[in-house]
Amino acid sequence: MPASAAEVHEMKKAPAVDGVLPTILHRWSPRAFTGRAVSAKDLKTIFEAVRWAPSSFNEQPWRFLVGTHGSETYRKIHDALMPFNQMWAGKAPVLMLGVAKTKFSHNGDPNRVALFDLGAASTVLALQASAMGLAAHQMAGFDEDAARKAFAVPDEYIFGSAIALGYQGDPANLPHEQMLKQEVAPRTRKHLGEFVWKGWEKAAELA
Ligand SMILES: Cc1cc2nc3c(=O)[nH]c(=O)nc-3n(C[C@H](O)[C@H](O)[C@H](O)COP(=O)(O)O)c2cc1C
Repeated sequence: MPASAAEVHEMKKAPAVDGVLPTILHRWSPRAFTGRAVSAKDLKTIFEAVRWAPSSFNEQPWRFLVGTHGSETYRKIHDALMPFNQMWAGKAPVLMLGVAKTKFSHNGDPNRVALFDLGAASTVLALQASAMGLAAHQMAGFDEDAARKAFAVPDEYIFGSAIALGYQGDPANLPHEQMLKQEVAPRTRKHLGEFVWKGWEKAAELA
């Protein structure tokens, strides 16, 4: 019998690490969502948190197209998703699309870190959502050309991820066996030595 939503959520939590914020350890990306709507108030709170993400020159190049289930914005984002993502993300009550302005507003120069700043903002979004008992699942799997056309996004904006937001649901409702398997699989990560280096490919000695 598949595990319940609560059991899966518990199992997905990264093991406690002394000094690491629980919100960071407990955030994960579900594909199963309940039908429960996200209140306008909670959505606003999430974006109040996003406002305070850091960015180069404080440009805040991120823009989020936000659609709630049943809206035209939601339908356009859903239509642009790859079929695999459409299969599960259409149950999420909120779909978003993150885009970033690639030119600085103060002088028009190219902003080579615009996407980086959008990523930072998206991480703040996911962490704030998780701290509120919600879950965000980012997706690179969408058709950028279709999304650009649907929303008439100007050329100077670059696409980041689409994001499904909602309340984590029962994995048994996922539309396909492979998805269910991934939903109940433990989360894994690289070891520190694989990405904290004192020289090229030389692990830094940490405590
Ligand atoms: C930029 C980005 C793109 C992603 N694209 C997809 C996607 O298209 N479809 C999907 O199901 N998951 C997608 N994911 C989710 C990742 O697979 C997931 O974050 C990763 O496996 C780590 O799992 P966790 O977020 O539960 O810790 C994406 C995540 C990120 C950050």
